[in-house]
Amino acid sequence: MTEKREYTGDYADKTLYIPGPTEVREDVIEAMAKPMFGHRMDRMTDLYTTIVEDTKTFLGTDNDVIVLTASGTEFMESAICNLVDENVLVTTCGSFSERQANVAERLGKDVDTLEYEWGQAVKPEDVRATLEKSDTDYDAVTCVMNESSTGVRNPVEEIGDVLADYPDTLFVVDAVSALGGDFVDIDDHGIDVLFTSVQKAFAMPPGLAVCVVSDDAYEREIAAESASWYGGFQRSLDYYDRKGQTHSTPAIPVMLAYRKQMKHMLDEGHHERDRRHREMAEYTREWARDHFDLFPEEGYESQTVSCIENTRDIDVAETIETVSAEYDMVFSNGYGSTLGERTFRIGHMGEHTVESIETLTDAIEDVAGL
Ligand SMILES: Cc1ncc(COP(=O)(O)O)c(C=O)c1O
Repeated sequence: MTEKREYTGDYADKTLYIPGPTEVREDVIEAMAKPMFGHRMDRMTDLYTTIVEDTKTFLGTDNDVIVLTASGTEFMESAICNLVDENVLVTTCGSFSERQANVAERLGKDVDTLEYEWGQAVKPEDVRATLEKSDTDYDAVTCVMNESSTGVRNPVEEIGDVLADYPDTLFVVDAVSALGGDFVDIDDHGIDVLFTSVQKAFAMPPGLAVCVVSDDAYEREIAAESASWYGGFQRSLDYYDRKGQTHSTPAIPVMLAYRKQMKHMLDEGHHERDRRHREMAEYTREWARDHFDLFPEEGYESQTVSCIENTRDIDVAETIETVSAEYDMVFSNGYGSTLGERTFRIGHMGEHTVESIETLTDAIEDVAGL
C-alpha cells in the first residue's frame, strides 16, 4: 500500500540529464501562466493551427500532424488499434519496444516479434528476411527509433526503405526520445506513423504527444472495422480539417508552451538541432570510452541518450544520489532490474549543449573519483 507523502513545494531545482523530462526554457514555462480560455474559441483555433503547421514545417513533412493531450504511449496503443486488423510484426531490442509488443498483445492482435538482445540494434536485412520467409501478411511493422532503455539508435530509415517493397505493410515508428534531437526524413523513408512525447528532445513540459500520419495510414483506419476513439487518426484529422481544433479539451497551458518552444525550434532548424545533438553525443561517447564503455552495439549509439556500461563497478545509485545532493544535477541509472547498476544513462537532449553536458561529466568524475 502506498502512503500519502505530502507535496511540500519545498524542493531544490535540479538540472535534468535524464532521458526525459528534460530542461525547459524559462520563457516556455512562463508561456503557460495565462488566464484560461475555451477550447472552442477562435483563440484556440489560432493556437492549435499554429502548433500543428509549425510542427509540419519543422519536420519538413507533407504528412498530417496530430498534437494530442496524452503521453507518447497513447500512440503506441492507438497506432495498433487503428492500423492492425490481425497481424503485426514488432521488432524488439529493449524495454520500450517490448512494451510495444505487450500493448499489441493486450489489444488481442496476433503479434510476431523479431527479437534482439538488449543493446543490439534492429537490422534492416533481418526485417526483410523475416518478411520474405513469412506466410503472414503483416498489417504493420513497428520499430523504436531510439531505445531509451539501452541507448540504441535503430536504422529506421533503412527499415522504412525495406518496407517500401511491402506496400500493404505500414511502418510505425516510436520516435519518443529521438524526434527533435536526431534528424529523420519521415516522408522519404515511407514512415506511416511516427510518434513522440514532447517532454523529451522537444524540451517542453509533459502532457502532449505528437503523431505524424501518412495518407495510407489514414485510409487504412477509415477502412477498418474498429479503431481507437480518443487516439483515432481520422477523428483528430477530420476535426482539424473542419475546425482547426482538437476533438476534446486539450491541455491548453502545455499547448501555449508548445507554441513558444516550437518557434525556438524553428529558429534553430531541424538540421541544426541534429548537429548540436550529434556534438553532445560525440562528446559524451568519448568521455564514456575514456572512463567506462558504451553499452549499445558499436555504430548504433543514440544521439540523445547515452547508455554507459559500468565497467568500473561504481555504485551507480550512490553516485546519482551524491551528484544530485552536491551539484543539483540528475542523471539516470540503467533501466529496470537487469541494467540498473550495470549501466547508467545520460540524457543529452533538448536545451543542453556540450558545455552543460561537460558540467555533469565533471561532477561525475569528482564524485566517482575518476
Ligand atoms: C522510446 C520510448 N517509447 C515510449 C516511451 C513512453 O513515453 P511516455 O512516457 O511519454 O508515454 C518512452 C518513455 O521514456 C520512450 O523512451
